[in-house]
Amino acid sequence: MQTAQGERLEVLLPAREIHARVQRLGQRITHDYENKELVLIGILKGSFIFIADLARAIDLPVHVDFMAVSSYGSSTKSSGVVRIVKDLDNSVEGRHVLVVEDIVDTGLTLNYIYGHLKARGAMSVKICTLLDKVSRRQVAVPVHYKGFDIPDAFVVGYGLDVEERYRNVADVCQVVRD
Ligand code: IMP
Repeated sequence: MQTAQGERLEVLLPAREIHARVQRLGQRITHDYENKELVLIGILKGSFIFIADLARAIDLPVHVDFMAVSSYGSSTKSSGVVRIVKDLDNSVEGRHVLVVEDIVDTGLTLNYIYGHLKARGAMSVKICTLLDKVSRRQVAVPVHYKGFDIPDAFVVGYGLDVEERYRNVADVCQVVRD
């Protein structure tokens, strides 16, 4: 794919590896939530491709809802400020909720969302993230399902962006600035 000037993409996780891992996560979730009503909550926008693939890898009737929170703005550094930009369409009271996130970095975003969903009376709240930058964590968040641990590098593709670029790249790539 054409990149912005002075920027290169280096593949960190090829699409076929992501696909295999997402299928495995879907199987585990199918097993763990058997006979339960599950609501998948995608955190926009970064999780839109992951949740689409994960939902199809889960062999259970699921509901899907979305939330959008502001965290990074257009920079690549966490602001530490979390604000709900788009709230859920439906109540989660008494429901089993699985939050589907693209990446956990400082943990600030998920920490907020996790508390918010619990306060709204969900019967259970678990977290599924595709990527985890463990070394960057500032607040502890319980990650129940994880695709990959990755090093402290800024990544794009498979839904993730830098200033809205590269969300539709099939691989997860590291952005290298020359
Ligand atoms: P946290 O609140 O610091 O854990 O940040 C989580 C959010 O920051 C994610 O949902 C992403 O939107 C964004 N983010 C963190 N690291 C990256 C990255 O390497 N690439 C793209 N977005 C990132």
